[in-house]
Amino acid sequence: MQFDLESVRSRFPGLAITDGGVRRIYLDNPAGTQVPASVADAMSDCLLYKSANLGGGFASSEAAGQVVDSARVAMADFLNAPSPEEIVFSQNMTTITLHISRSIGRLFEPGDEIVLSRMDHDANVWPWVLLARDLGLEVRWLPFNTETFEFDLEDVDAVLSDKTRLLCVGGASNLTGTINDVATICEKARDAGAITYIDAVQSAPHLATDVQQIGCDFLVCSAYKFFGPHQGILWGRREIMEQLEPYKVRPAPSEIPGSFETGTQSHEDFAGVAAAIDYFAWIGETMADGHLDSWSHLDGRRRTLHAAMDFLFEYEKSVAEHLIGGLMQLDGVTVQGITATDAMHRRVPTVSFTHARVAPASIAQALAQQNIFVWNGHNYAVEVVKSLGLYETGGAVRVGPVHYNSIAEIDELLRALAEML
Ligand SMILES: Cc1ncc(COP(=O)(O)O)c(C=O)c1O
Repeated sequence: MQFDLESVRSRFPGLAITDGGVRRIYLDNPAGTQVPASVADAMSDCLLYKSANLGGGFASSEAAGQVVDSARVAMADFLNAPSPEEIVFSQNMTTITLHISRSIGRLFEPGDEIVLSRMDHDANVWPWVLLARDLGLEVRWLPFNTETFEFDLEDVDAVLSDKTRLLCVGGASNLTGTINDVATICEKARDAGAITYIDAVQSAPHLATDVQQIGCDFLVCSAYKFFGPHQGILWGRREIMEQLEPYKVRPAPSEIPGSFETGTQSHEDFAGVAAAIDYFAWIGETMADGHLDSWSHLDGRRRTLHAAMDFLFEYEKSVAEHLIGGLMQLDGVTVQGITATDAMHRRVPTVSFTHARVAPASIAQALAQQNIFVWNGHNYAVEVVKSLGLYETGGAVRVGPVHYNSIAEIDELLRALAEML
């Protein structure tokens, strides 16, 4: 089945907004996507009709409990997690990482080593650097190849040792767009006896995510990057989660997942997350038949969701190729990421670029004046821009299409850039 872009776009009211008669072109998606109306409806329904604390024997509390349970099941399906009890919700990925890192750190001794990557967003870097500082751990850095924008797997071998207790790495870079071979990296870390913590914030919106196939111990993502509300979600392997001491107050649940969820949760966000997953299921049911075979080991909604993500990625690859091809035609522009047309499967469509003479902030500002939304700077990928030598020069311009963007929108961007540069 063809990708039905018009049906997709009609589900997102934000995409139809104009300002002074000028349409908006949202290419700021790696910082947060628009949401389908069904997500907002589910959140509103929860707030208006299911507002109560959990655990009461009365109707509104039971309804809130159902919202929470369904959201855990939805996320377990989306990530192919063995159990919904391994799904923890939190305010955002950064908060959950800062929080659980304290518990994970209790497994370590001074002198133990942790591996952090130079390709990661600071949310999967600095919580661990702080932990290392507090506990006397040694940080080993995994560099990336600044010519290929990928990790060299020999470098992974080189940073692992019999003292490595933890390896943290991202599924996809929020700056270069590189997709990392996290399954292979996790296998190497596992062989070295290390726990693995995967930041899937930028891969989950584009790629089918299967924690069992990846073989990691923890995986985190953020629903506002995949068409849901502002909410972070962590999957953790039960055997490890149950070994950890949760940092919690005494009356809070002592069993997972509640033991890692601090205070009263935003139930309306749970409802919104479940609706975002339902949105992907709709894509799967209406468009992604051709991709079901690759997921024949999964059943029901899990299979539909994973097929949907593969289907959307096919379209996104064509958008990325068009965008990169156009950028490379522009005089003075350097794409800071993978560009080979036969390597689009090794990157998400998040494309950063620099210009020989014009600063990233000036380009982003000029595009904003034409209602074309992009980000500039380091985008919290501090180690990445430092590795690329862009830290002092304002980082890069980041253009981040998702599946609701059209080729026509990319052409508008390219036309605006050509005129401006
Ligand atoms: C790769 C990556 N990791 C982590 C984060 C932080 O996510 P959150 O805003 O949910 O804390 C971001 C946010 O942009 C990101 O792009």
